[in-house]
Amino acid sequence: MKLHIDFPRLRRDLTELGAIGRTAEGGVSRPSFSEADMRARRWLLDRIAAAGLAARVDAAGNIFARLGGDGPAVMVGSHLDTVPNGGTLDGALGVLAGLECLRRIRELGLPLRHPLELVAFTDEEGRFGGFFGSYALTGALTPGDIPGIKDTQGERIVDVMARHGLDAMQAPSARRDPAEIRAYVELHIEQGPVLEANRVPIGLVEAIVGIHRIGVTFHGRADHAGTTPIPDRKDALLGAADLIRRGRDLVLAEGTPASRLTVGVVQVKPGVANIVPAEVFLTYELREVSAEMLRELAAESRALIAEVAEAAGLTASVETILDIPPVPLADAVKDAILAATKELGCAYMRLSAMAGHDAQVIGRVAPAGMIFVSSKDGRSHSPLEFTADDEIERGANVLLLTLHRLAADGGS
Ligand code: GLV
Ligand code: MN
Ligand code: MN
Repeated sequence: MKLHIDFPRLRRDLTELGAIGRTAEGGVSRPSFSEADMRARRWLLDRIAAAGLAARVDAAGNIFARLGGDGPAVMVGSHLDTVPNGGTLDGALGVLAGLECLRRIRELGLPLRHPLELVAFTDEEGRFGGFFGSYALTGALTPGDIPGIKDTQGERIVDVMARHGLDAMQAPSARRDPAEIRAYVELHIEQGPVLEANRVPIGLVEAIVGIHRIGVTFHGRADHAGTTPIPDRKDALLGAADLIRRGRDLVLAEGTPASRLTVGVVQVKPGVANIVPAEVFLTYELREVSAEMLRELAAESRALIAEVAEAAGLTASVETILDIPPVPLADAVKDAILAATKELGCAYMRLSAMAGHDAQVIGRVAPAGMIFVSSKDGRSHSPLEFTADDEIERGANVLLLTLHRLAADGGS
């Protein structure tokens, strides 16, 4: 009989975790280090202990569970944090399916040539910019940057982690030698429409999109809304509006069909109806699967920011929040996923990941791969995120066979 996970057990875990941080709209809010995220972390530690596995939390707050002895590990995981009012599967699926795989392999007593290691990464979603945990693990976290890492409300990660007894300045010590990572595998919902449109249950991810996210501040001048004639104003919001419209035109004209631009945060100061906006902060996020195109769009966007600022009589300052290149995934891991898919006899297709994932951070230093299951109507980062149970089960079984191939004596 083929190796398979215990689906009712995985379903129970998904349902229990999905209740932590539940919103009135039926979504989940677990921004990293929020009370809900902390509850989810404690819940996971309990589930790991209940599985008879030893848990470990590193200096960046990443949670691990290990099965097997010493030596380079086959890692599996994702993240527990969510966007505000997000779905129950983005991140949670990869962590809980990974836990289920370790549990299953342990209870079946399958011999392992290489240890298996579950990981739940800190702040994938970006309350603090994103990928804090996987950056720390791969040595990409610069100590000098840590005091300046804050959320869009201005809360510093140093202070937020301190409230939970963690020292953010120690996070770089979470670095692991890449030689300790034999492979990293992440099961995730697609979060887009491609698998569903093609009626294919499993996605074999070829590459993960690069993300260039900057914070732009336009500086103008506060003035009276009634007494200041329009031509005499230095309205910071005018620069922002111009950038949002012209940035979109730029990306549509110069980019590829895989280019994305999103302005997801706009903060107006002083934010009062009868005062001309003096300062506007916005996030400007580009995504592309071609590294060259991403660099070009980023450079042209910076020139555009200067141009719109000047035209509106403003000054602009730009800070880089996230700059992560596109990453091709490793042949060795893709081959194992492919073999697992074939063994299960399920159809698959190759595609790119258009969302960010910890696999793209790990994939810069060690062989990484991703398995996708379809998302209903392509919806994600929304309470409407949904994947049918039979698809989740199939994806988790592909994960189990993939991990077994990568870690077991002679594979599955
Ligand atoms: C994370 O889900 C991202 O793509 O930003
Ligand atoms: Mn995710
Ligand atoms: Mn996400």
